Amino acid sequence: MAIIAPSMLSADFLKLGAEIEMINNSEADWFHLDVMDGKFVPNISYGMPIIAQMKKVATKTFDVHLMIEQPERYLEDFKKAGADYLTVHYETGYHLHRTLTSIRALGMKAGLSINPHTPVDMVADIIHEIDLLLVMSINPGFGGQKFLPLTYNKIRRAKEIITAAGANTLIEIDGGVTLENAGDILAAGADVLVAGNTVFAAADPTAMIARLKRAGQQ
Ligand code: DX5
Ligand code: ZN
Repeated sequence: MAIIAPSMLSADFLKLGAEIEMINNSEADWFHLDVMDGKFVPNISYGMPIIAQMKKVATKTFDVHLMIEQPERYLEDFKKAGADYLTVHYETGYHLHRTLTSIRALGMKAGLSINPHTPVDMVADIIHEIDLLLVMSINPGFGGQKFLPLTYNKIRRAKEIITAAGANTLIEIDGGVTLENAGDILAAGADVLVAGNTVFAAADPTAMIARLKRAGQQ
């Protein structure tokens, strides 16, 4: 079964405590937390203080997705805030090998994300340093966008690279994941599904999480 990571970007921040409780009590596996700086992506979201507050009541893994320039400046801060997985973008790094090994040295799982225009092959040589390969299926910055079909080939290629290397890297898909495309995404080789709008705009988010969890199964 897929690992389900609801994106809190689409949560109602006026009732954040209740939204976290809903995830705690659902079949979701992780909390996906999107950090944006208004430079690497056009949008600005939230940062360490909010994540640290959320950590006090959340009972599941914190999957922190940094959409910020020079993420290497903040690795320790996000560890302190409660990140379990810390993902940086390929497009932001001159020295990704160093950044990824630093994330692990701080006791977190190391994630690397690629934008739609970045070929998966660019990460092949450092695949053993990557616990989570986050393949963006939209241009990052906003929730509620439409899934880019070019992602399917990228998932298949990522799976080939990981299998050939004998690595344990998980493949995560982020952006435009719905009940309709989840089965195909998993069939292509994904392990983790991020879902913002699909979960939080649903009439019954808990039921939607349960349905995503079983996507692609008979
Ligand atoms: C966008 C973020 C996503 C976003 C996904 O840059 O990385 O995590 O919240 O939202 P949906 O699932 O609505 O496309
Ligand atoms: Zn994200």
